[in-house]
Amino acid sequence: MNEITDAVTRISALVGAAKQYSQLGRAPYHEVDLHDLLDSTLMMLSGKIAKGVTVVKDYDHAVPKIPAYAAELNQVWTNLIDNAVSAMGGEGTLTIRTTVDGDAVLVEFGDTGPGIADEVQGRIFEPFFTTKPPGEGTGLGLDISHRIVVNHHHGDLRVTSRPGDTRFQVRLPLSP
Ligand SMILES: Nc1ncnc2c1ncn2[C@@H]1O[C@H](COP(=O)(O)OP(=O)(O)OP(=O)(O)O)[C@@H](O)[C@H]1O
Ligand SMILES: [Mg+2]
Repeated sequence: MNEITDAVTRISALVGAAKQYSQLGRAPYHEVDLHDLLDSTLMMLSGKIAKGVTVVKDYDHAVPKIPAYAAELNQVWTNLIDNAVSAMGGEGTLTIRTTVDGDAVLVEFGDTGPGIADEVQGRIFEPFFTTKPPGEGTGLGLDISHRIVVNHHHGDLRVTSRPGDTRFQVRLPLSP
């Protein structure tokens, strides 16, 4: 009976996350709690995050709800987490930090992977640019993320990188 109760709890948590992640039946643009979106994305990706990767959530609970296209933001988190996890190759720390930065919310994805070589840093947001072997990457993840953040939310997507410390920073305006 205890196992069944545990299983049911886990399943309903997953279904809840899947609903939150897909935003099915929700208005596309509404006030969103970014931490709920991040948590549901992490839950959806949990099977893809290697055991050796530690996930640190450094959430600032003073971050208010903001108006946004929630399902699109979940795609951004998915792409950035996928890149970070694949860069770390099974071992390292993924840190997701949120904070208020002036008139924007900052969501930062940090990883402890090898970093991005200077000569490719200027190209990573180009469509179809990838350093992954054929069949593994399409090179569209960052292009799509950039469109969603910059074109659709009038925000900003930046990267800083050195070996062991790569950070993708998403800034989203507090007001529409
Ligand atoms: N966290 C990171 N650490 C190191 N390199 C990264 C990181 N994120 C992105 N990159 C580099 O940027 C390139 C482009 O990333 P992008 O997400 O656009 O495409 P991709 O991951 O190669 O393929 P896709 O996302 O379509 O599966 C990657 O191939 C990789 O070289
Ligand atoms: Mg990618």
